[in-house]
Amino acid sequence: MDNIFPTYAQFPMDLVSGHDWHIKDSNGKEYLDFTSGIGVCSFGYSNELIIKNVEEQVKKIWHTSNLYPSKLVDEVAGMLCPQGMLAFFCNSGTEANEAAFKLARKYTGKAKILAFNNGFHGRTFGSMSLTGNKSVQAGFSPLVPGVTFADFNDDKSLDKITDEYAAVILETIQGEGGVIIGDKSWIQKVAKTCHDKGVLLIVDEVQTGIGRTGTKFSFEHYDIHPDIITCAKALGNGLPVGAMLGKKSLASAFGPGTHGTTFGGNKLSMASAKGVLTQLTPDFLNKVTEKGKQVADIIDQTISPLPVVKKVSCMGLMIGITLEDELKVGDVIAKLQDEGLLTLSAGHNTLRLLPPLVMDINDLKAGLAKISEVLKNEVVTE
Ligand SMILES: Cc1ncc(COP(=O)(O)O)c(C=O)c1O
Repeated sequence: MDNIFPTYAQFPMDLVSGHDWHIKDSNGKEYLDFTSGIGVCSFGYSNELIIKNVEEQVKKIWHTSNLYPSKLVDEVAGMLCPQGMLAFFCNSGTEANEAAFKLARKYTGKAKILAFNNGFHGRTFGSMSLTGNKSVQAGFSPLVPGVTFADFNDDKSLDKITDEYAAVILETIQGEGGVIIGDKSWIQKVAKTCHDKGVLLIVDEVQTGIGRTGTKFSFEHYDIHPDIITCAKALGNGLPVGAMLGKKSLASAFGPGTHGTTFGGNKLSMASAKGVLTQLTPDFLNKVTEKGKQVADIIDQTISPLPVVKKVSCMGLMIGITLEDELKVGDVIAKLQDEGLLTLSAGHNTLRLLPPLVMDINDLKAGLAKISEVLKNEVVTE
């Protein structure tokens, strides 16, 4: 690529078309997709309702700005928000977290935010400052002040949550950090401590939300009630949309002129999000849970026992297979690409699988068989 900043170490193929959960590159090679464009295209590449909604909208009007009320935007917000919450629409996960950071400060009048080591919240200054990964922050100092980090899944971190803080932000599953699942009892203790100390709880559902774990939002597995939720990725199935959802009681801090974005609530993105949310029914979510269980069983039997596999984490269709250090996840991804399977990495040495939620069980099994075959042929040298 001659005209693009090299911010991504890119794979060699140009993906030019897709159908259901299959993708073709510019040489005509076909791949089974276990990435969903990094957790985005959960309804695959040819979903009829989403295409219809966007096609109809593109013929009407694409963009009007937030200066005018929109029934469509309000309808999508109503479909997305848990009871008693309002939405602010933006264009990405990092922007959703920026909005959450600003709202927490403005509402509480406090500056400090507690975030977790190994977490990821985005690349803009606020979200990057909340990201507990030195390599993401390197070279960009000074960061936004007021952010403290604590260890994830560690009871000692609870002591750090004091009434000096505006908010605590966490992912229930640290996705980019290596698919590290939050312990239920620990996350509940964090939520209770926040509640007791008058600290807002922000749950970043950018990767885990919109059905990925078998529920609309992953925090539902934890029986907690966040004050603020951020989401993006799968919400537009590939059209850019992010959202910050917050309790109605916070609305006084986000009045006219406090925050904004030109493109947030863009009508094409909203038409796509409406298609996503219309299909995110309890029945659909149950199917994701069922497929997730079958996938976890297969991994348990065929992949976990392999000598190159250190640890496996699965919740719904969010899957991490952490490899022994001797085997580089990048090499495994390249071999799987040769075999016609697209996968992702995360954290230190984790193979991350985020297949489209609509993928049928036969193709999920076919992809897992390829992974098991490639990993079987790898030997860990002592
Ligand atoms: C948990 C989480 N938060 C925030 C982001 C940032 O989202 P975006 O890349 O849309 O800005 C990501 C992206 O991977 C993420 O996984």
